[in-house]
Amino acid sequence: MTGTDVAARAAAGFTATYGAAPAGLWAAPGRVNLIGEHTDYNDGFVLPFALPQRVVVAAAPAASGWQVHSELTPEPVTFGADEVARPGVLDGWAAYVAGVVWALREAGLPVPPARLALASDVPVGAGLSSSAALESAVLTALVELGGLDLPVHLRPALAQRAENAYVGAPTGIMDQAASIRCQAGHALFLDCRSGAVRHIPFDVAAHGLAVLVVDSNAPHRHVDGEYGARRKSCEAAARLLGVPALRDVTISDLDPALARLDDDVTRRRVRHIVTENQRVLDTVAHLDAGRIREIGPLLTASHTSMRDDFEITVPEIDVAVEAALSAGAYGARMTGGGFGGCVLALVDADRTAPTATAVEAAYEMHGFPAPTARVVGPGPGAARL
Ligand code: GLA
Repeated sequence: MTGTDVAARAAAGFTATYGAAPAGLWAAPGRVNLIGEHTDYNDGFVLPFALPQRVVVAAAPAASGWQVHSELTPEPVTFGADEVARPGVLDGWAAYVAGVVWALREAGLPVPPARLALASDVPVGAGLSSSAALESAVLTALVELGGLDLPVHLRPALAQRAENAYVGAPTGIMDQAASIRCQAGHALFLDCRSGAVRHIPFDVAAHGLAVLVVDSNAPHRHVDGEYGARRKSCEAAARLLGVPALRDVTISDLDPALARLDDDVTRRRVRHIVTENQRVLDTVAHLDAGRIREIGPLLTASHTSMRDDFEITVPEIDVAVEAALSAGAYGARMTGGGFGGCVLALVDADRTAPTATAVEAAYEMHGFPAPTARVVGPGPGAARL
């Protein structure tokens, strides 16, 4: 399904549901994170890029309340200010939409009553941020439809608030920042403490390379609980070390910091975050210098750190990384929150098919369900179409 199809589906869904054409179409993408995993809620660095896959919202003003059509459910969901004010009343995809309305209203912004229709080609449950894409698309549509005074750099925090305080997932800011602020052809170097961004050119094709994203199709296991546990353990470690966040422990502080921690698990969690932040900085330095192949070992080291120190990978993910590396990838790692989801591999442009085949063969050997491979390049962030 291409992006154009998604826009056409959103527009058609709108017209079929409401009997009129939408006032406009807004899109926001899913993301793949090149490197910097679980560093965002530690005030650290991340380097995601936007996927070509996106959520499209067709929207028009309404007299009152919000009505939302999705391809996932036959009837539109309708809610007013009362339902919005009570988190937990709506569930499933509708909670993300209501959460955005709630977060905008909480920020004192006069959200326009609206009719919306949604369509998406972001794979759901693959760790490619389909929910952040939904939040970001709805937020962008409502802000622009209502002419609300909300500069782009302040939008990710409100979309994140919808996810944290309304939907109830304790995630960081990376996914919403990526969906809203990425630019085509670039990765987004984001300092999650200051919110500062730099758009780093990431033209793999110009270097004869490609990024292969392999969805493990592994069932997500305990994602919510384990994610929250990692976050708590990082925050507890920061308190023990007397710093505001693990971002404040640099690579040269690492050994003395580890020596001050008694517990081996906490030491490994800290080591992942501190080394991962450094790997993001090193990756950016390579990309700035045009040394794209050289980021490969950093990607693979990131995976090893997630597997052994942060303990967020699963066998399907580790097998995909090993198979991609054996097939000649320059580097490979899990991308996203973990416990399932996708692996990305940096490969020669003419090696995408053999690499995908190698992963498929390894999955068959292990008796895992077949994986899904895609070649992806950096697409644009949220925008009106
Ligand atoms: C999920 C969260 C992000 C981030 C990643 C891990 O995608 O939504 O905030 O923490 O996991 O890097």
